[in-house]
Order: sequence, then C-alpha cells, then structure tokens
Amino acid sequence: MPAQQHFDILIIGTGSAGLMSALQLSEDLSVALIAKDELLEGSSYYAQGGVSAVLDTQDNFQSHINDTLSTGSNLGDEKAIRFMIEQAPAAIQSLEKLGVLFTQEQGQYHLTTEGGHSNRRVAHVADKTGKSIQTNLLQSVKAKKKIHLFENFIAIDLLMRGKQCCGAYILNKANNEVESFIAHKTVIATGGASKVYLYTSNPDTSTGDGIAMAYRAHCNIVNMEFTQFHPTCLYHPHAKSFLISETLRGEGAKLILPNGDAFMHKYDNRLEIAPRDIVARAIDSEMKENGFDCVYLDISFKDKDWIKLHFPTIDKKCTSFGIDITKQAIPVVPAAHYTCGGVQTNLDGQTNVGNLYAIGEVAHAGIHGANRMASNSLLECIVFAKACANHINQQTFKRSHSNFDNWDASRASPSQEKVMVTHLWDEVRRIMWNFVGIVRSNKRLHAAQMRLSQIQNEVNEYYHLYLISSDLIELRNLITTAQIIVKSAISRTESRGLHYNEDYPDTSATIQNTTIQL
Ligand code: FAD
Ligand code: SIN
Repeated sequence: MPAQQHFDILIIGTGSAGLMSALQLSEDLSVALIAKDELLEGSSYYAQGGVSAVLDTQDNFQSHINDTLSTGSNLGDEKAIRFMIEQAPAAIQSLEKLGVLFTQEQGQYHLTTEGGHSNRRVAHVADKTGKSIQTNLLQSVKAKKKIHLFENFIAIDLLMRGKQCCGAYILNKANNEVESFIAHKTVIATGGASKVYLYTSNPDTSTGDGIAMAYRAHCNIVNMEFTQFHPTCLYHPHAKSFLISETLRGEGAKLILPNGDAFMHKYDNRLEIAPRDIVARAIDSEMKENGFDCVYLDISFKDKDWIKLHFPTIDKKCTSFGIDITKQAIPVVPAAHYTCGGVQTNLDGQTNVGNLYAIGEVAHAGIHGANRMASNSLLECIVFAKACANHINQQTFKRSHSNFDNWDASRASPSQEKVMVTHLWDEVRRIMWNFVGIVRSNKRLHAAQMRLSQIQNEVNEYYHLYLISSDLIELRNLITTAQIIVKSAISRTESRGLHYNEDYPDTSATIQNTTIQL
C-alpha cells in the first residue's frame, strides 16, 4: 500500500451523511470513503424513531419550522431550518428510491410523533429506521465503481497547505501505518461527540474526532455547550445505555416513579412529549431529589401485538434482559445522545477553511439551536449531504495533486504505558458526566476546566513521545472536544435549552451563538 493516495474527494465517515454525499457525487469523481470501524458502525445504524417530514395533508412546512425553532429555544437559524424542512419530502422519496420501505398502514405512511412536534410527521421503519437506511445506502455505494471504501481507517488530522485543506493523515488500523490521503475536497462526516460523557446512547465511534480535527485546522466551532441528553435509555448493568425510543412516548407511554406515580405534569403541560431538555431535566430532578437509580416508562397498557409490531427491536432487547415490555414498565435513565453544536457551515456544508466541508451531526448549519427536535437529525444528514455533493459537483478540478511530507514517526517509541490512555479516557468521561451534565454550575464548570487542561497537557506529552494508536487518537480528540464544550458552557451566562446553569437560571433576551476558535 503506498504511503500517499490521491483522490478527487475524501469523505471521512460512512454514516448516513457520508454515504449519502458519496452517492450524490458525479460518477466521474474518484472518491475515498473511510470509516474508523466497520462500515455500518455509527449512530445512523442505531436510529430508531425515524425521519421527520411534512407528509400529511393536515401538516405544513411552517408548522415544522416553528416546532424546530421553538424546541431549539429560538437559537436556530430560520433560513437554514426552512431550507432543510422544505426538502424533507424529497429526502424521504430519495431514501425510498434507494430501497427504504417506510412503515405503511392502509396504504399511507404510518407517521408517528415525538417531543416538540405538533403534528404526526415522523416516517419510520418500525423501530429500526437507521438500520434500513444504512444497509440500503451502503448497498448502493458498493455498486459505484469510483467510490473506494476503506474500513478500519481512522483519520488523525487534516492535511493543510496554508488555509486550504488537501486531505488527511489516516491510520490504517490493520498494520498501524499512517497514510496521506490527498484530495481536492474533503468532507468531514464523522458524527457527534456524545462519548465524551460516561453514559451515552451512542456507539463507540462518537468521540468528536471531526470536531477536534476541524478545530485544529482553524474551523469555527459553534454552540458546543448544547449536548442533548436523551431522557430514556435502558437502565440495566449490561445494556450500555440502549435507547428506548421517544416514539414510545409519542404513542402514549407514561413516565412513572418506582411507586407507579406519574410526574411529568409537575414540569410541563405537554407531559411526556415535551421537548427532550425538559423531560431529561424532570427525570434528573426526580432521581436526585428522591435518591432513585432510575424512573420507569410504561407502554404495557397497549395491545401486545401492536407493541411487538411497532417496537420489535426494543421488545427483543428488553426481553433479553428479562423485561417484558408488554407487561411491565421499563427502567430508564437519561444519557448523552446528540451534539447540537459543531463545525460551522453554510447551506452547502462549506466550512470557513478552503476545500473543507462538514455534514451531519459533526456540523453546525444552524438547524438545532439550543436543543434538537426529535428525528430532525437523519433529515439533516440527507438534505445537507445532497447540498454538499451538489456544490462539489459544480466545481472544476485541476487533475494534479501536490505532494506532502509523509507522516514522520521516527522519534516516537512503542508505548509501555497504555494504562495511561485507558485511565485518562475514563477520567475525562467521568468529569464531563459529573461536572458538565444536565444541570451545571459555575463552580463545577471551572473545576472541570482546570482538570481537563491538566489532562490535555498529559495527553500532548504522550502523543508526542509514543507511536500513534487508535485509542490515543480518540483520547486526544475526546479531551479537545470536552474542553471546547466546557469553554462554550462557561461563556454562556444564561440558561437556554439544553444548557441549564443554576447560577444563571434565566434565559437572556439577547439570542447569540457561542463560537470557539483555536
Ligand atoms: P454517524 O452515523 O455517527 O457516522 C459517523 C461515521 O464517521 C462512522 O462511519 C465512523 O466510523 C466515522 N468516523 C468517526 N470518526 C472518524 C475518524 N477519525 N476517521 C474515520 N472515520 C471516522 N436521529 C433521527 O433523526 N432519528 C432517529 O430516530 C434517531 N435515533 C437515534 C438513535 C440512537 C441510538 C442514536 C445514537 C442516535 C439517533 N439519532 C436519530 C441521531 C442520528 O442517528 C445521528 O445524529 C445521525 O445518524 C448522525 O449521522 P452521521 O452520518 O453524522 O454520523
Ligand atoms: C428516538 O427514537 O427516541 C431517537 C430519535 C432522535 O434522536 O431523533
């Protein structure tokens, strides 16, 4: 394998954003599509609820736009939101053309609902929407001759010439060699950063790599204080925060305390389908005040066959842990779920760095504001993947590439201290969970900032002394992203949406984004 590889386009990430953008590129462009794990591994595959779109004659675009803005505490950008929502029905159609069979009832889409939506507008494939989207997208990508797939290749850093991005340094995990992937345009589609928290609904891939790489390349990083905590993840020692979809609550499931009492009426008149920030804070408050390990979600009053038809994945998973959801309430706790902030982009996915795009959860195009509305994320992935690819297709390329110095590991030695990496990984995630969680305070944020900065120094030293590894790359990105989150949280002196600070409980009349730069 050569140390340098040349492509027209490099796409980092094979989630729904990465795969869809690759499929939309002109057939004559050579494309490298890389994934740091197996090709299907990533948040997209595990998506349950669905994809939001105005598909019902009772619904309309303005209502979807208003719900998105209001769920995001009015911090979202109306122009960007409108751009996405008006393309949602076409996004559903393009997924159908690729083979996704959305659940139908009596010849119509079965549209479900979730927190913040004032109409039924969530198209879904039972409770395995992500699996269906991903397998169909990947199948189509595999049929394209000029798309080259690289599995278990992890991007380390972007290759820069001045202020232009020219590709990335990438570690081949199979042989631990670093290769330079040189490209005219690079698209970051690496997903979110919820793994900076100890408990998360996300798979292991969500370590904020794209955000950290973009930050080091001088991209603007926006609104990272807004980590979304999903209210209902399965509480079981072996469940690894398996998600219990919000669509259960959309279909009437009740949140109850261990004694069976409902409690959402104390917090919001929309009860269980209030936006996620409100429901997660309500659960957190009940757990902390009463010393409970979890609360419960009950859908057992619904017909057994209906439950099994609509929620087969959740039913199977819970059954494997001895929980019969048709007969008993499910133990649930909140866990980090979605990164609302990210790499700043325009509506074509372009960042402020030349030849560099960002799409999907890694990006901040102005959609989610201070809290993402349920099922708007897969939609964002599809719409912005298409916009980004269309923009790239309109560019002209000179077919020559400059060369870059190969990765130099001559001064690094094999590490005898791998335990440091695992220890620091764990420490960062505990600090974030305990000090930068659902409810924050100035004291806890500053304590987190101090310790994270010490850890950053320890990681920098380790990074320069020892040979690179996948765990070390992720730890370096995790600590960078954690620090950006804390810095953003400290600079927001109000409570808004997902960012609740006890020292500033009010929402300011001034609406502004938080932008962090290197
Ligand atoms: P991902 O799908 O996370 O893919 C990231 C890709 O980047 C992976 O291929 C990974 O290997 C690769 N990668 C990362 N770092 C590197 C690196 N350094 N080098 C190389 N490759 C790298 N949203 C909805 O709208 N509806 C839902 O129903 C829904 N349900 C969800 C359920 C769960 C359990 C979870 C976790 C999320 C859910 N979401 C849902 C959110 C949504 O799934 C994600 O926001 C979205 O899928 C992100 O897609 P993506 O393409 O940006 O990233
Ligand atoms: C869910 O099904 O609850 C997740 C939906 C989402 O994150 O948008």
